[in-house]
Order: sequence, then structure tokens, then C-alpha cells
Amino acid sequence: MRHVTPILIIHLVLVAILTGCTTPTGGHSAGTGATHASDATNESGSLAADRQVRYANGAVAADSKPASEAGVEILKAGGNAVDAAIATALTLSVTRPYSCGIGGGGFMIIFVEETGESRALDYRETCPMRVGPDFYAKLPATASGYDPSLYGGRAVGIPGQLPGMIAAHEAFGTLPLETLVAPAVRAARDGFAVDANYLGAVEKVRSLRKAHPDLRPTCRWVWDNLCRRGVIELGDVIRQPELAEYLERFGREGIAAWSGPDGIAALLTGVDRAFDGVLLPGDIDDYEVVWRDPLVVEEIFDDYDALLMPPPSSGGIAIAQVLAMMEHRLPSAGDPLPGTPAYSHLMTEAMRHAFADRARHLADADFVDVPVDRLLDRAMIERAADRIDFDDVLESDSCGVIEGDSPDVLRDEGTSHFSVIDSNGMTVACTQTINGTFGSMLAVPEIGVILNNEMNDFTTIPGESNLFGLKQSDRNLPEPGKRPLSSMSPTILLQNGRTSVTAGASGGPRIITGTLQVLLAVIHGEETARAAVEASRLHHQWKPDILRLEAGLLGLRPELEATGHVVEETGGVGVVQAIVVHENGLEPASDPRKGGAAAGW
Ligand code: GLY
Repeated sequence: MRHVTPILIIHLVLVAILTGCTTPTGGHSAGTGATHASDATNESGSLAADRQVRYANGAVAADSKPASEAGVEILKAGGNAVDAAIATALTLSVTRPYSCGIGGGGFMIIFVEETGESRALDYRETCPMRVGPDFYAKLPATASGYDPSLYGGRAVGIPGQLPGMIAAHEAFGTLPLETLVAPAVRAARDGFAVDANYLGAVEKVRSLRKAHPDLRPTCRWVWDNLCRRGVIELGDVIRQPELAEYLERFGREGIAAWSGPDGIAALLTGVDRAFDGVLLPGDIDDYEVVWRDPLVVEEIFDDYDALLMPPPSSGGIAIAQVLAMMEHRLPSAGDPLPGTPAYSHLMTEAMRHAFADRARHLADADFVDVPVDRLLDRAMIERAADRIDFDDVLESDSCGVIEGDSPDVLRDEGTSHFSVIDSNGMTVACTQTINGTFGSMLAVPEIGVILNNEMNDFTTIPGESNLFGLKQSDRNLPEPGKRPLSSMSPTILLQNGRTSVTAGASGGPRIITGTLQVLLAVIHGEETARAAVEASRLHHQWKPDILRLEAGLLGLRPELEATGHVVEETGGVGVVQAIVVHENGLEPASDPRKGGAAAGW
């Protein structure tokens, strides 16, 4: 249960004064942008119903209302948080087919409150065996100049979603898989109503087809079936009969429906190869999930212990670093309030340190040495925090907890986060991805599955930045079996051995900064999950050296520019789903930036 740190309870009022926002119970203005729908509409047509509600028995916060409800259906049927997470994850693959799904992968942090056990499940996509470090550098330019690590067969990493669901089910599940797939099967067969965020994804496909006519064959199934050739409007019902049938089969057969002699490896790789890819059936059949120990960082702001995702996530380390820097420097700066220029400047400089480390040092630790201990060394983090000047900005080159030895390093696309807590406090924080909107744009028509473009999360061409403008080091070059560096940051904060808050986000590198700011808001005494999630946010990822402010924070612009920051307005900083444990119940919150809605019982 959450013990509120009473240091900054008045910050909302101050933010409202500084930024011209209304209070969260009013019409707070979230940013708008390609993937950040207005909060006026969602699949249910209204968000009001799930606001401020506390639930006694369990809660699910996903970025799609049917997916939140799928999890709650399973909780009500007697399933635990992992059962509910599997149902939610599979339903998201139906209702957010451009954000995540069977053709992608993800990370899940599981905390069993009754025993104190915590596990991190890594079912991220891996590099195919025929792709090496110079694979992309050697490719000829495409006809229209598109990046082959983004679209078509060469963009596709080996999917881990269904092996991940099976691993989670075998380790923690209590209900039969057939029961867990039922809500997803229903959503696929009966259909779901298109919301504003979905229409945003359709617009991305329209623009891509226009800019790159040579990609029209690649996009064809997605465009014809999920985008209705662009003739689509709010409330239209999308049905996916092939996916419904396949999900039903998965419920009956389990992993045999995916890999092995009766699996779909030949079907999947056939599509990939027809569009220039190199996936082999062995890639699918040999894929393995990895159970990892979560990063545990104790006594954050005295009261909290954090369970964070280790590499190949970069988010766990980055969030731990920024929280520690904030804790160390806030008192010496007179405890500036959240939403003030001083607080925002400190957080920005801490983000710059963390993203410099991300770029220089992070990759799949199963393949390269990642100095996790040094990056999380409290004394080193505090020394980096001490270099932050409240009247100036750091030189880019001097950013990083580990200074120097920098090689030439260098936006919600296809990702979705949800959180679940059940009546026993069992908690799941799960972020899943196909990377870009509709991933590689390739679909396996027979089963209605969209294939990811996770290969773009590798350093594909040394020195060049990826889809999200991130520069990454050669440590993150592709190698067979390796996992690309990720920003996905499913996180659980504990107090006295019990879940206090769980959060995570979609949005490329903004996953890290979005999740971080929601956690900080709760740590600093924000009273509701909803207010923490809806508050305006900022983002800095070291390079490019630009501080991005959501519209609600633009009041800070003059002072931050005077301090030396290059400031730009942004449409949104991540899409965060969170659940806060209050004395009187669980409060789930889904981010209005994507139009989701939470559920509970
Ligand atoms: N595909 C987004 C991430 O893993 O960071």
C-alpha cells in the first residue's frame, strides 16, 4: 500500500498556474500527435466511467478498453494476474494490431506479493541466423529510398510473443490456455470499434503508400483488411476471422500451434522470404524466451524498492539512474517543486546523462559486456548528478554516469504497455511491441498476424540513428540470436514488500521518460494514478540535443531556454498505463493520449 511522501502535494496547483492547465478533474489538455489521440474519444466513447474508480479485487490498465476488460474477465473467473495478463496481451494483438501482437515480442515483470518472488520474462524478438553486423550496410538502396530495416522482410526479427505467453502460463498460470484466449477470440471474431488512435495508424499507412509506391505490395494485406483501403471512420467494426481461428487453435494446442512440426514456421517465413527477408523455419523453431532476474534498486526516495527490466531493456537502468539523481540533487537545490523550471531542468539533465549511457554502453548483455554494476553504482550516479549546474546545461560530451570512452554514437509507434494487479497483490507489468506502426507492414494472411520491424532497434548502420532518432553504439549491431536494445520499461515500485505502483509505457525512448515522470509524480505525493498519468511531460534523449515539452509545459519554455536548453513542443511523451495501490483500493489509469480505458472489479 502506498505511503505518500508528503513533500510536494501542492505541485498540481503550481503546474496549473504555470502552464495554464486545468486541474486533472477538468479537461486537462494532453498533447496531440500522430499516436496521441484526443482524450475525448476512445473505444467506449468516454473516459469518464473509469476515472477515479477504486477496485477491491483486481485491476487492469491497458491502452484499449476491450483488452483491460479481457483481463478483468479472467480475474473474475478466478485467474491470477498472470492469467489476466495473457488474456490482455492476446486481446491487444486484436484491438491494437499496429502496436503489438503475435508477430512481435515483449517484456513482463511479475511480482508475487505472497512470497516476495520477482521474475522478468524476456520474449523480445531476436536476430535471424542469416543476419550479421554488416547486413544492412551491404544492402543496395531501395527504389524509393525507404529503410529496409523498417519495412518488408528484412525488417523482421524472430517473434517471441507466443513462446512468451506459454512460458508465463507454464510458470504462473492457473486457468487453461483455452479460457485465456477466449476474450481475444471473441474480439477478433465479433470485432471491435475503431477509435481515434486506430485512425491515426491508418493515416500512417496511407502516407507511407503515398511516399513509397514500391511498398504498396508490402502493405497490401494491412491496407485492404485492417485499413479498409482508407475508407474507414470512427466506430467502424473491424473483424479478424483468420486471427480468431488461429488464436482458438493456440488455445487448444499451445506452442505446437506456433513452432515444431505442426507449427506455422513455413507459412511465416514464406511471407518474409517473398518480401526479401531471410527468416528460416529454424529461426522460429529454435527461438527461446529468457527468464531474467529483475534489477532491484532499494530505498529510492527512502521508501521505495524498484523492480526494473534488465538489459536488453535500457529502460530499467535509465529510470534507476534518473530517480537516484533526482533524489540526490533535489534537496541541495532547495526541493524545487515538480513543474517548476528548476525541477524540469534537473530532470532534463538527468535524462541526458542516462540517455548518453544508453547510447554508449547498452545492448544485449548476453552478447556484449554491459557495465550494469557501474551504471547503477550509487556513488557514480551521484557524482554525475553533482555535475548538473542549475544555471547552465552540460556539454553533450560530458553527459553520462560513465564519462568518456564514447564510440561515435550517436517516437508511440508499435508498442503497448499494460499493468495488472490481482486480489493477492500479484502484479504484472508488461510492455509489448512490433516496433513501428503495423511493424514491417507485412502480414501472414492465413492467420492475420502482422510481422514486427524490430530489426530497426539494432544499430543497423553504424553512426546513423533509428526510427526514434536514437543513436546507438556498435555494441548493438545485429548478430544471430541477439536481442536488439529496447526502451521498454515495465516497472513495479514496492513499499514494505508490497506493490505500491506499477507503470510502463509505449513511445520508443519516450517510454523511459514517460514512465519515469509518472513514477516521480506518485513518489512526490500525487494523489491519483489518473492525475499522475494525465499530467504534462517533457522528454530529452541526449541526442538530438533538444528538450521536448508537451503543450501543458510550454509555460516553462522561457526559463528553460534562458538556462541553455534548445526547446521544442512535442505532441506527446509516451503513453503510460499505471495502477496505484491506495488504502481504499486499486486505481488503474490508462493514458488519454492513446484513448485507452482501464477496468477492474
Ligand atoms: N520497439 C521499441 C523498443 O523496444 O524500444
